[in-house]
Amino acid sequence: MDDVFTVLENGHREIRRMLRELESSPNSANGANQAALARRRQLVDRLIMEHSQHESAEQECFWPAVRELMANGAQMAEQGVRQEQSAQQTMADLRNIDPQEQKFEEQLRTAAQEIKAHIDFEEQQVLPALRKVMDPQRAQQIGAQIAQRKQAAAEGRARPHAAPRPGALKGTAQARSSGGGSPRQQGQQGQQNQKRGQQQNQQNRHQEQEQEQEQSRGREKPKDTMGRGR
Ligand SMILES: [Fe+2]
Ligand SMILES: [Fe+2]
Repeated sequence: MDDVFTVLENGHREIRRMLRELESSPNSANGANQAALARRRQLVDRLIMEHSQHESAEQECFWPAVRELMANGAQMAEQGVRQEQSAQQTMADLRNIDPQEQKFEEQLRTAAQEIKAHIDFEEQQVLPALRKVMDPQRAQQIGAQIAQRKQAAAEGRARPHAAPRPGALKGTAQARSSGGGSPRQQGQQGQQNQKRGQQQNQQNRHQEQEQEQEQSRGREKPKDTMGRGR
């Protein structure tokens, strides 16, 4: 089984590959047709998912070990998690922008810069230092935890809206809600998480409907006030 260093470096390689694919494929500025833009949307959604899962797994399994084992671990972890949450939010915001809009490419470029800078930080500063202080058994254990999380996420991926919604990324409750325990416990936990996710989606849709109703009422109010001619 791969240790934490191999698992994370493989994750980084996959994220970099997805970024390269996006950089080299047609976009709205260089004449992409509708089919190419739809494909671009899919690629970005897949990157959002991959990136979010990678960083959530690090927040759950990796940064706590950095904090514990490295002399300047707390500071490193704080810096790393801040970079991750900022990039996760930038990526999540992309979900609400149409690939036809110029803003989409600008936002994607910002996200790519943030993601690459963060991967460089981990690979050049954190991982080499952690390698010196983490024993191989612990490295294997954390590697296995991250791999299990990734598998559980892939199994639950069939559900709609699996990627975190904008604004839902700042907390780590989602990260805490999975990982650890036996494979059986993780399976049960995966089902619970899936159910929770479905309930959350329903709740979000309900809130959106309420907000729309609220807004339409709000739009009518000034007219009423004006109409009364107070
Ligand atoms: Fe990473
Ligand atoms: Fe990270």
